[in-house]
Amino acid sequence: MSFEIRPMGPDQVGDFLIPLSAAFGMPITPERIARVRSMPELTLRLGAFEGSAIVGAAGAFSFALTVPGGAALDISGLTMVAVLPTHRRRGILRSLMRSHLDEAHARGCAVAALYASEGSIYGRFGYGIASLSAEVELDRARAAFAGPPGPPAAARLVGEDEAAAVFPAIWDAVRRATPGMLTRSEGWWRARRLSDPDWLRGASGPLQRVLLSLDGRPAAYALYRFGRPFDHGAQPVVLEITEAMGTCPVSTRALFRYLCDVDLVAGIRAAQLSIDHPLRLFAADAKCVRTRVHVGVWVWLVDVCAALSGRAYGEGAPLVLEVEDAFCPWNRGRYRLAGGIAERTAAAADLALDVDALGSVYLGGLGFAELGAAGRVVELAPGALRRADALFRGERAPWSPEIF
Ligand SMILES: CC(C)(COP(=O)(O)OP(=O)(O)OC[C@H]1O[C@@H](n2cnc3c(N)ncnc32)[C@H](O)[C@@H]1OP(=O)(O)O)[C@@H](O)C(=O)NCCC(=O)NCCS
Repeated sequence: MSFEIRPMGPDQVGDFLIPLSAAFGMPITPERIARVRSMPELTLRLGAFEGSAIVGAAGAFSFALTVPGGAALDISGLTMVAVLPTHRRRGILRSLMRSHLDEAHARGCAVAALYASEGSIYGRFGYGIASLSAEVELDRARAAFAGPPGPPAAARLVGEDEAAAVFPAIWDAVRRATPGMLTRSEGWWRARRLSDPDWLRGASGPLQRVLLSLDGRPAAYALYRFGRPFDHGAQPVVLEITEAMGTCPVSTRALFRYLCDVDLVAGIRAAQLSIDHPLRLFAADAKCVRTRVHVGVWVWLVDVCAALSGRAYGEGAPLVLEVEDAFCPWNRGRYRLAGGIAERTAAAADLALDVDALGSVYLGGLGFAELGAAGRVVELAPGALRRADALFRGERAPWSPEIF
């Protein structure tokens, strides 16, 4: 039997979650439905229907993404992709992707992004790995910091409402300076970060929300919890950090000092720090900071011209890129990048690459030389890989601190 892709309304969230429930094994409850509905970012819900039965689904969030130079571009963030196990490998994902990308293109989004459950699924459509993230673990007993202590910071545990009032300004200050970070609505803050319902907590301890002030002004926050309740030392407790943001090096250092000083814990673990996070350099014993690198956000350039013209660049001579995009043919062609503006051109190309490789370098996360060494970019003019890196590499590694 054939299937049809149809948009679904907010009142159909219960049905929309059916494929996700089957694919990821999570129950559909009134609380989960209310949580999904409370995020205004979820602007697109697509269902794949076989007759009246839903057999697949995909959603898209509307965010603004910080790109190198500090501009915030409207993007489509693909999410909640699932196909019933009874209907896999019949082209349903491919059809959902077609609708997602066509919708993003029609809506004028120059960029789409996602987090992938498996790394082998999305490259074929045009998504490339655009950032990496660092999972960091530290033994508390070895967590002395190098150098003199900074100025005193006042730490205070706050409730959900105060956190909702104060934390977003700190997030936004970091977000504006960091490629890869996304805007958040108040609904998102509450549903995804600050609320702490029993049904989502599992065996972990309650969520702690700490605010640090410097000179009386809010300067950093963290969200963390005990990975398991303290049981009189029978099992070591790890402090699990969901998010830790400081507006400057001083407040970031003070925040991690606070987190490393919480009593009764054996270690701290931060699942998603930036790859260039200063924690390793705060530590007196750099080897005590254990880091595992993970794939972060994936980016696809829905409109190559608009996306390339939307970010800032380093110094360098004009560059001509020959871009191939098998899934979205409107992107195919040759682009000349000069003075921060991309235009179609007939000039000879310096580099040839697929659109997924262009997504990988877009935020400055991966480099052209790196991709060239892996055979993912072809250098047609001598020195073009180095020239391209000088243009695209930013001051900071892109960071996307939350899986969506
Ligand atoms: C992953 C999933 C959505 C794929 O759906 P599907 O309808 O079976 O996929 P399609 O039949 O449209 O396949 C499209 C292409 O992706 C490939 N593909 C599909 N699932 C894949 C996987 N898990 N790993 C690698 N490739 C995959 C197919 O081989 C096909 O490739 P081709 O067109 O180049 O031959 C589905 O298996 C699923 O729901 N899995 C569990 C939940 C999940 O992982 N969701 C993704 C969240 S990010």
